[in-house]
Amino acid sequence: MSHRPIRIGPSILAADFLHLGQQLADAEAAGADFIHVDVMDGQYVPNISIGLPILEATRRGTSLPIDVHLMMVDPGRWVAEFAAAGADVITVHVEADTHLYSTLRLIEEHGAAPSVTLNPATPLVMLEEVLPMVRQVLVMSVNPGFGGQSFIPGALDRIARVREMIDRRNPTCALEVDGGIKAGNVHRAVEAGADTIVAGSAIFNDEQSVAEAMDAMRRAVSR
Ligand code: DX5
Ligand code: ZN
Repeated sequence: MSHRPIRIGPSILAADFLHLGQQLADAEAAGADFIHVDVMDGQYVPNISIGLPILEATRRGTSLPIDVHLMMVDPGRWVAEFAAAGADVITVHVEADTHLYSTLRLIEEHGAAPSVTLNPATPLVMLEEVLPMVRQVLVMSVNPGFGGQSFIPGALDRIARVREMIDRRNPTCALEVDGGIKAGNVHRAVEAGADTIVAGSAIFNDEQSVAEAMDAMRRAVSR
């Protein structure tokens, strides 16, 4: 369906933290391409999730690249620490950073890949100036703050528009989608132009094993 390789990364926000090592091993064995780590500060989003100690543990628990999604105010303050704790990609919200340019530079300087994201209601024009500086754009398909929310259909049009911008101005940039992705809707995000898929509750849940869930997701993107 898509000519570009599709990468799938489980979000450990939905994992069983009592057994994080096993959950990471299961995800890696099931062919996950990367691990997504959601950091929430209780201020930028109305929820607090996990931070540096869990990122450090995740780094020890997997050899996969780690994609850190910082849902926090002024993320630039913490870039050095998250890079040192094992982040390979660091995503910051355009809405949360007064000095986005400096933060993206800082991420690069600390040896991680700079990535930006925008909330569903933020105009895509916010990407204009920074697109050439980033190695990934994340299109949020839920309002950030919680796992297990429903996919916002308007995200598809946004993915398609970001795909056009990327193809024109930074063709090697990854296009990630995050929020409400299931085996039943992932093909729509891929058809719209996403190549990097984050899934939390669709991978870590009580109904299926991680292997079954990853398999269903993989089949859904390659059919
Ligand atoms: C939402 C987080 C997502 C979340 C996705 O604020 O950024 O990464 O973990 O979870 P699901 O796939 O359950 O919507
Ligand atoms: Zn996320």
